[in-house]
Amino acid sequence: MKKVKIGTQTAQVGDTDELSQAVADELQALIQSRAAEGKMAVLGLATGKTPLPLYAELIRRHRDEGLSFKNVVSFNLDEYEGLGRDHERSYWAEMWKNLFDHVDIDPANVAVPPSIYDDAEEAALGYGKQIWDAGGIDWQLLGIGGEGHIGFNEKGSAATSLTRRVKLAQKTIEDAAKSFGGEENVPTHAITMGVETILRARRIVLMARGVAKQKIVYRAMAGEVGSEVPASFLQEHGNVGWFLDYDAARSPKNVRN
Ligand code: F6R
Repeated sequence: MKKVKIGTQTAQVGDTDELSQAVADELQALIQSRAAEGKMAVLGLATGKTPLPLYAELIRRHRDEGLSFKNVVSFNLDEYEGLGRDHERSYWAEMWKNLFDHVDIDPANVAVPPSIYDDAEEAALGYGKQIWDAGGIDWQLLGIGGEGHIGFNEKGSAATSLTRRVKLAQKTIEDAAKSFGGEENVPTHAITMGVETILRARRIVLMARGVAKQKIVYRAMAGEVGSEVPASFLQEHGNVGWFLDYDAARSPKNVRN
């Protein structure tokens, strides 16, 4: 791993395995220090492709090294509207398949925003309140979308946005089309933690891999801070770890901003 300065921010750069190890080390230290104090560790977790090698490493540490998740409370960033928990593409189902089914977390401590609801505002407010009641998020994991979303805070999301129902950007729908077997099957709306909800986390770790993320990572780290690239708001947080693979970290000189 090496440190690379991009704009005002510093990234840890390595290959996929090194990134997973480094982030798993950080998370393990948090979980175990909390356990030693008899306290819960409140995590904010992400779905998508980026964290899969990290989740595989956490499962391995649980299986081979006894890393326990008994004192973990987890809140996921977002959930598609209308799929329901049984749908294999729901973030609920993905999180169980890729992590929770394989570790010893108490199912009562797993929270993902609701997918089916009558009143979106009430559903979103309820989820925000649940996070608040848990004492806020200690450690938030993020990926980054092709146009700079964090959670499903698409372009145009305000720094003060809270947990709410959002319309997915066309780019987000296109990116998801393959896994849904066509754009027409991708939900058009979701509930997401807001930018402010995310920024309230005491520690944030953003992971990005692959050349497709290169330009947007650069704009998030070194570009103007604002709603045009919601991930740029992270520059103002003060405790963000940027974990990038070599492809995502190469800063293209010809990027606007
Ligand atoms: C997922 C989420 C999204 C993804 C982002 C990157 O819960 O909130 O912001 O982190 O779209 O997705 P991948 O990792 O699939 O490139």
